[in-house]
Amino acid sequence: MTDGETWNMKTILLKADENNITAADMKAAGDIIKNGGLVAFPTETVYGLGGDAMNPEASRKIYAAKGRPSDNPLIVHIYRMEDLYRIADEVGDGVLKLAEKYWPGPLTMIFKKKKIVPDQTTGGLDTVAVRMPDNRIALSFIEAAGGFIAAPSANLSGRPSTTTAEHVIEDMDGRIDMIIDGGSSVIGLESTIVDMTGSRPMILRPGYINGEMIKDVLGDVSYDPAVFGEETKGLHPKAPGMKYRHYAPKGELTIVKGERDAVISYIRQGAAEAVKDGKKVGVISASPETKRGSGTEKGTQSGAQDFPVSPKDNRYGKELFIMNIGDLEDEYSIARHLYDVLRECDKQDIDIIYSEDFSTPRIGQAIMNRLIKAAGHRVVEV
Ligand code: TXA
Ligand code: MG
Repeated sequence: MTDGETWNMKTILLKADENNITAADMKAAGDIIKNGGLVAFPTETVYGLGGDAMNPEASRKIYAAKGRPSDNPLIVHIYRMEDLYRIADEVGDGVLKLAEKYWPGPLTMIFKKKKIVPDQTTGGLDTVAVRMPDNRIALSFIEAAGGFIAAPSANLSGRPSTTTAEHVIEDMDGRIDMIIDGGSSVIGLESTIVDMTGSRPMILRPGYINGEMIKDVLGDVSYDPAVFGEETKGLHPKAPGMKYRHYAPKGELTIVKGERDAVISYIRQGAAEAVKDGKKVGVISASPETKRGSGTEKGTQSGAQDFPVSPKDNRYGKELFIMNIGDLEDEYSIARHLYDVLRECDKQDIDIIYSEDFSTPRIGQAIMNRLIKAAGHRVVEV
């Protein structure tokens, strides 16, 4: 390893059931944190890679295990409201209203930090990001660990986030002390981040809680322009993590936007040419002809697809993978499967990936924010 760490730890896998949480299990996980170790845990958004937020050495280990630059601050996860006041300054009315409505839930708020929070946890910033996750395993674990868990998403830096324990094993086995397996994340995209330190609330990262939902509560909301991908125009995102290459599969991903028939024919042509060049090609689609595999959560179907190649057309054999991401009628299913599909591209060693555009009404902004980053801003309008 070039980063000087050896990654041959024994990683314990602990199965947990949200409806039947065992105190002894939570104590075992909590003790690892109290001893300065790392535990990956389920949340409703994505899996987190947790360490003691008050222990600078734990933060250092998190950055090392992820291979993440240490100027990228971590979110502090809490399990009860009163703990917010121990780490955050200037908790105003707006915060209380949002917390009342959306905590526990997929919302992270940024505050002026209190001194007690180590600089290593906040990447040297004088602000701190705080979230109370809506998952009973997560809440019990945070409590058992002493109340303050610093956690980024539990993926290697740059890779797609993790929404199942299997994903976490792929990236973190041997690097951390324990993985708590609590099943699939129900939302599948990271929390909405709202900066509450300015005169207006500002969304730094879109998520399940969208701008309208914030506005409903506060009557006002603004956006960091980087949310709309404008960092390519030289603007720096206010959430430091949003500036890095992110969520990306190894293959080259292109998003194709436009009228449906034109999208299909563009992808067909591109896929056919790439296969002819000896490349493995993946197509990410939510079209009704491509249903996700029944009974499994796997995103790949290499059998009879209607999209983008006609079902009779078997010329491409194993070189073409149609990855169903969800159901167009249920936009949340698309969000839930995004990272699984991107990870599946890597498992199948896919070289060239095409995706449809998923600008759905409520969570589409968050889906496209991640997908466009995963594509390195390669978006074609047809
Ligand atoms: O849903 C989530 O938020 C998941 C789960 C595990 O809770 N966590 C997560 O963490 O997505 P991470 O580290 O992958 O993304 C956190 C983002 C980064 O872009 C980081 O730069 C930003 O939050 N962030 C953290 N603290 C911040 C601060 N004080 N000011 C601005 N941005 C901050
Ligand atoms: Mg992340």
